[in-house]
Amino acid sequence: MSKKIAVLVGSLRANSFSGRLADVLKSLGIEFGLQLELAEIADLPFYNQDLDRAESLPPAWQRLRQQLAGCDAVLLVTPEYNRSVPAALKNALDVGSRPVSQNVWDGKPVGIISLSIGAIGGFGANHHLRQSLACLNAAVMAQPEAYFGNVGSRLDKEGGVSDEKSLKTLQGFLAQFAKFVG
Ligand SMILES: Cc1cc2nc3c(=O)[nH]c(=O)nc-3n(C[C@H](O)[C@H](O)[C@H](O)COP(=O)(O)O)c2cc1C
Repeated sequence: MSKKIAVLVGSLRANSFSGRLADVLKSLGIEFGLQLELAEIADLPFYNQDLDRAESLPPAWQRLRQQLAGCDAVLLVTPEYNRSVPAALKNALDVGSRPVSQNVWDGKPVGIISLSIGAIGGFGANHHLRQSLACLNAAVMAQPEAYFGNVGSRLDKEGGVSDEKSLKTLQGFLAQFAKFVG
């Protein structure tokens, strides 16, 4: 039976490399028994503990929490902003983490693919995510690490990857992730 994977994309802009890469992963994932579904994060109000009670709970927080609680695993696909995690994605981590007794990240298998138009491939964002997710007791896949650098030349306009090596890299990552989730 296929595994349900919620995908959080760290970029909010239309036609982002991150969104395009997530689409590629979605098509490739089927082969590995992974059913990838986007979890929207653009409309999440900033986490504010004052709102975190039944009478004022933002519906978007509730939706994300339910989606994360109901999936088998989470895949984070994100650019790096100023050597760290884009605020929208960090906010999603925070929203899912509370109330503490209902932390949706607790024990959740998580894969991370960071990307960049530069060569380093979002190493800072990737590892800052690992730092937060360790605190949240998520089960983050340690290896293979995925730093998808020079992304501008590795995705084509037809919604695929532009070279065989990149395709193999993504397939290899998904194969290991499927094993990890299983
Ligand atoms: C606010 C901001 C900060 C950025 N900081 C970094 C950075 O620290 N390292 C890096 O490699 N690229 C950085 N970039 C460039 C991104 O890699 C590039 O804009 C990429 O296309 C963003 O991903 P997206 O296409 O998914 O939106 C930054 C871009 C923005 C908008």
